[in-house]
Parts: sequence; C-alpha cells; structure tokens
Amino acid sequence: MKTILITGGAGFIGSNFVKYILENTEHGVVNLDALTYAGNPENLRDVSGHPRYRFVKGDICDGELVDGVFREYDVDTVANLAAESHVDRSITNPEIFLRTNILGTHTLLEAAKKHWKTRPDDKYSREYRAGVRFLQVSTDEVYGTLDAEGGGMFKETTPLAPNSPYSASKASADLLVRAYHETFGLPVNITRCSNNYGPFQFPEKLIPLMINNCGADRKLPVYGDGMQIRDWLHVRDHCSALYAVLDKGRIGEVYNIGGNNEKANIDIVKLIIQNLGKDESLIEHVPDRPGHDRRYAIDNAKITRELGWSPSYTFERGLAETIRWYADNGAWMENVISGNYLAYYAEMYGD
Ligand code: NAD
Ligand code: TYD
Repeated sequence: MKTILITGGAGFIGSNFVKYILENTEHGVVNLDALTYAGNPENLRDVSGHPRYRFVKGDICDGELVDGVFREYDVDTVANLAAESHVDRSITNPEIFLRTNILGTHTLLEAAKKHWKTRPDDKYSREYRAGVRFLQVSTDEVYGTLDAEGGGMFKETTPLAPNSPYSASKASADLLVRAYHETFGLPVNITRCSNNYGPFQFPEKLIPLMINNCGADRKLPVYGDGMQIRDWLHVRDHCSALYAVLDKGRIGEVYNIGGNNEKANIDIVKLIIQNLGKDESLIEHVPDRPGHDRRYAIDNAKITRELGWSPSYTFERGLAETIRWYADNGAWMENVISGNYLAYYAEMYGD
C-alpha cells in the first residue's frame, strides 16, 4: 500500500483523481491544495471522511510545509497536479504561473529527493527507497501547435515549443523533472495529456463555460473563427492513464495521453447547443486569443503499447453525461460562480 501525495487535488482533474484512487486501489491519499479560485473542497465532499484520505491546505511553494507533509505522512509517491492551468489567465498575469508551476514543482522535487534517498547524508548517492515515484502531470501544450491542414501528431519525441506563458511554465517544470532524474537519479515520470472534460471542471474552460452560458441563454463567445482543434479526453480516462503510469510506467519515461478525438471548437459549441435544444444564434465570434495554438493531436501509441491503456469513453457519451452532470448540479455551479464555496470551506474545515 502506498501513500500518494496528490497536489492540486481540489481542482478539476485532481478531485477526480483522488476519487479514482480511493475507489480503485487500496492506497492512501494526501491531498495538498492551496485552494486558489480553482480549488473547491466541495468537489471532495463525498470522500472528505474517507479513512484513507487526508486534506492539507497549503502551497506547494512552501518548502517547510511540503517537508512536513512528506515526514508526517511518509509519502512515497507524488502526483503533481497543482498548477495555474488557464491559458487566458496566463496571458493577463503570467507571474503566478511561473511561481506555482515552476518553483512549486521544484519545491516538491527537492522534498522527494531529500526524503526518498536511502542515504540522505550522502549528496552523491543516487539510491532511493524501493517503489518511490514522482509523477509530473503535464500537458500536450508544451509541444506548441500543429498545423490544422498539415496533419501530424505530438509524439513523446516532438520538440518542446510552448507558445503561451502557461505552456512555457509547464514545459519548464517538465525540464526540471527530467533534470532531477538525470542528475540525481530521482525516479520520475512525466505525462502529457490533451484537453480534458467532465464533471467538476471550472467554468472558465470551453466546455463548462459553453454549457453554463447556453443553459442560461447567454452568448457563446467563440474565439476567432472557431476552427481551432483540440483532442478531447474524458477526465476519468485521464485518471486511469495516470494510475497506469504510476503503477507500471517505466522510470524516467514520458507518456502522452490522448483520446484520438479531434474536434473543432465550433463543432463542440454546436453539439452543446443541439443537446440543450437551443439556437445557434447564441454563438458570438469574439477576437481571437493572442498566440492561439491552432491544433493539438496526441499520438498515444506508447502508453497503449507499453501499459495497455486505452480510453473508455466515446466523446458523444462523455459529452452527453457531462451536460447532464452540470444540469443535475446547478447548485455546484452557482457556488463556484458566487464564491460561496469559500464559506463552505470555513464551515467544513474551520478558518
Ligand atoms: P485546476 O485549475 O482545475 O486545478 C488546479 C488545482 O491546483 C486547484 O485545486 C488549485 O487550488 C491548486 N493549486 C494552484 N496553485 C497551487 C499552489 N501553489 N499550491 C497548491 N495547490 C495549488 O486544473 P486542472 O484542469 O485540474 O489541471 C490539473 C493539472 O493537469 C495541471 O497541472 C494541468 O497543467 C494539467 N492538465 C490539465 C488539462 C486540462 O484539460 N484541464 C490537460 C492536461 C494537463
Ligand atoms: P480552453 O478550455 O481554455 O483550453 P486550452 O486553451 O488549454 O486548449 O480552450 C479550449 C479551446 O476553446 C481553445 O482553442 C480556446 C477556445 N475557447 C473559446 O473559443 N471560447 C472560450 O470562451 C474559451 C474559454 C475557449
């Protein structure tokens, strides 16, 4: 049985991953999350009293706190999901992305290196306790953009060429993780996944934003011509892939994760309109995002071949379920939008 430190476990993918681990394995989970605007303890209401689950409110950049978490819970596995994750916010305020995504990852790497060495006093030792592992949850956006007309897919060997402050900060973190493996022998993996969708996603991202606006008959802001392509994966398929890598990924390897499911933004917006029985006149083309990546597509042959992973959701089923989830969880959306969940947090965990 392992003790998995999941950082960012109150966010969209993190909260789904915490539940995935508790439901599908015998491992313990410590969730370290700063509860920024994107972190919501309500996402974890179902598991807050679970005997194998602990929550620590804190910042991954706080070295003393991270050190204490490793010591107190005897952490042997890290899944680093804590991040500033929204491209548009990184364009208006890049600095926090550099702090959390780069320096925060570095703080976690240092703690893992210190606590997992078999001979901590020997600075040249590259020997680690058996079974320890550091998983960096990254994104396909580190590869930059593909040409919409030219085809091709991102492979693990595609050179990094990030275009936004968000993806540049994630690429920087990936390089640090790689360096800690090469220099200090830290047992690491990096995963690079395509766009996720599903329950508990903050409504600043395309799919929940469109579902929310469409349900309320508000305009649907499509950037530019709406012909940008993303490769969509249901969040639970991402979770099963992350666990497959933690469980049996080859140490030091990068694994791409994707659903072979490319869609243009405008087509997704139209599917949501259709599903909710609304009218396409709600679509409003707005000015394009600066530096907007045109197309992402993941070649997932490596994780499929080596770890036997494959996605279980079709996009049609996943999107329909997601739309229904948001319809059934109107109070969740209201609380997220109004910030009421902060009051919930104070009630639940004290100050
Ligand atoms: P999210 O924004 O929903 O959640 C991020 C979580 O991290 C929040 O709970 C937030 O409170 C926490 N956090 C932020 N700064 C922190 C800090 N300094 N210390 C501790 N906690 C902090 O993000 P998400 O969509 O769930 O993404 C999770 C990870 O997966 C990110 O690393 C992201 O880069 C990666 N990823 C996301 C997608 C996607 O489509 N959403 C795709 C591929 C990879
Ligand atoms: P987003 O969900 O922000 O993810 P990412 O930028 O990481 O891919 O956006 C997905 C796509 O949808 C991206 O091409 C930008 C576009 N988009 C819109 O057209 N309108 C919107 O209001 C949002 C949030 C995104």
